[in-house]
Amino acid sequence: MVSARDSRPTGRSDGPRSDGARPDGARPGDGSPGARVLVASNRGPVSYTREDDGSLTARRGGGGLVSGLSAVDDKLWVCAALGDGDREAVRRGVGEPGVRMLDIDAGTYADAYNGIANSVLWFVHHLLYQTPLEPVFDAEFRHRWASFERYNRAFAEALAEEAGPGAAVLVQDYHLALVPGMLRALRPDLRIGHFSHTPWAPADYFRLLPDDIAEQLLRGILGADRAAFLTRRWADAFTGCCERVLGGTGDTRIGVHGLGADGDFLRRRAHEADVDERMAALREQIGPGRRTIVRVDRTELSKNIVRGLLAFRELLAERPQWRERLVHVAFAYPSRQDLAVYRDYTAEVRRVADDINTKFGTDTWTPVVLHVEDDFARSLAAYRLADVALVNPIRDGMNLVAKEIPVVSDHGCALVLSREAGAYEELGGDAVVVNPYDVSATAAALHEALMMAEDERAARTERLAAAAVALPPQQWFLDQLDALRRG
Ligand code: G6P
Repeated sequence: MVSARDSRPTGRSDGPRSDGARPDGARPGDGSPGARVLVASNRGPVSYTREDDGSLTARRGGGGLVSGLSAVDDKLWVCAALGDGDREAVRRGVGEPGVRMLDIDAGTYADAYNGIANSVLWFVHHLLYQTPLEPVFDAEFRHRWASFERYNRAFAEALAEEAGPGAAVLVQDYHLALVPGMLRALRPDLRIGHFSHTPWAPADYFRLLPDDIAEQLLRGILGADRAAFLTRRWADAFTGCCERVLGGTGDTRIGVHGLGADGDFLRRRAHEADVDERMAALREQIGPGRRTIVRVDRTELSKNIVRGLLAFRELLAERPQWRERLVHVAFAYPSRQDLAVYRDYTAEVRRVADDINTKFGTDTWTPVVLHVEDDFARSLAAYRLADVALVNPIRDGMNLVAKEIPVVSDHGCALVLSREAGAYEELGGDAVVVNPYDVSATAAALHEALMMAEDERAARTERLAAAAVALPPQQWFLDQLDALRRG
C-alpha cells in the first residue's frame, strides 16, 4: 500500500531454530514439492530490529500485498533483508512461515536499492529529474547497475529453487524488473507475472536511460507471461516504450488491476480505542470549530508536499477569511532517508510549514500541524475528521490515501486530487481535480472544496468510497493469479 504502514510488533524471537529449518519450512534438496504461488518483492511483510539485549523484535507491515496474499494458501514470499536486524534474523535462522528473506551482500544491496531502484528507476517513472544536471550515466552508474543485476539474480535464483513445477510467480515492482527474464531462463515451466505499483514513464522520458539499459529493463519485464499495472495509462506507457525501443511487447500479455482500499479492515481499525484517543489529541491541536485540510504521505518527492503547503499559504494570503478558521494537518512520514535528496526534501517540508506558522500563526491558532513520526492510528484519526483531503502528487501509481479517506471519513470529505495520480482514473469524477504544479489552482481548489455544500460533499463521499473499495486487495490479487493461470 502506498499509505503509511500499520506496523505492529508481532513478538520477539530470541534465537536460532533448533531444527535448522528455513523460515518457510522447506529445506533445500529435501525433495519437498515447492510452493505453488510465490511472490517476490524488495520489501517483505516482516522486518526485524535488533534490541540492546541482542534479541530480535519482529514487525509486521500492512498494505495491499499483505492483505491480498492472505487470500492464498501454500505460498512463499521472497523478499530482501533490508537492514542489519533482517540480516541477523536470516543468519540466526529466525523467520516466519511462508517468508524467505535474502541476505544479499550489504554493499550490493545498497547500490541496487538506493543507487538504482530509488535514484534512477523511481526518478524515471515519476519524472523527478532536474534535467540540466541529472541524470548522469557514467562509470559509477555502470558499477551500481552491475549490483542491480546481481540483486535481481539473487531473487531469480531463490525463486527458481523454491517454486514447484508450473507454479505461479508474481514479481513486484521496479526493483525486480530484471527478475522475470532471468527466472524464465532458469525455469521455463513457471507462470511468471510482473506487477508495477508505480506509474510508467512516457517513452521520451524513459529514453533518458542509456539505450542498452532501457532495452534490458523492458526485456526483463517481458520475460513475464503477463505484465500488469495499476491503471490503463501506465500500461499504455509501458506498451509505448516497448514499441519505441523494441518494436513491440512480443508474447507478453498486458493487464490492468486497480488496487482498491481494504474497506472492511479500515472501517474496523478506524474505530479502535487508540484511534479515538488520537482524534481527541488532534482535535485539541486543531482547536474548536475549525475546518481541516488533511494530507498523509511518506515524505516522498513525488507526493508534492511542498507545493501543497505553498497552496495552503496562498489560500491564507489571498482569502483572509480562512485565517483562524482552518488548519492544514500534514503527516509526512520518513522515507528513504539514506538519500540526501530525500533528507533535503524533508527539511524543506519543515521549513515551509514553519514559515507559514511564523507568518500567519497567532497565540491561539497554529495553521499547519505537521507530524513526521509514522503513526497509523493517528493517520486514521486524521482521515476520520478531515473536511478536505489533499492528494496532489506530481505522479503516483495509484495513491491509496485518496481511496482510504472517503471510506473512513466520519462526516464526508471533499477530495482535492491530482490528475497525475493513478486514482484519478477511478475517482476523478467526484473529486476537485488539480494540475499538481499549479499552486494557485490548487489554492483555488482547496477553497472550492471547503465551500462545497454539505449534501453535495456527502453524496460525493459516498460515491468515492464505493469506487475506492471496488477492487479490494484480496480480489485484486486473486484476479492477477487467475489471469496468469488462464493465459
Ligand atoms: C512504493 C513502491 C513500493 C515501496 C513503497 C515504499 O509504493 O511501489 O515498492 O515498497 O513505495 O518505499 P520503500 O522504498 O520504503 O520500500
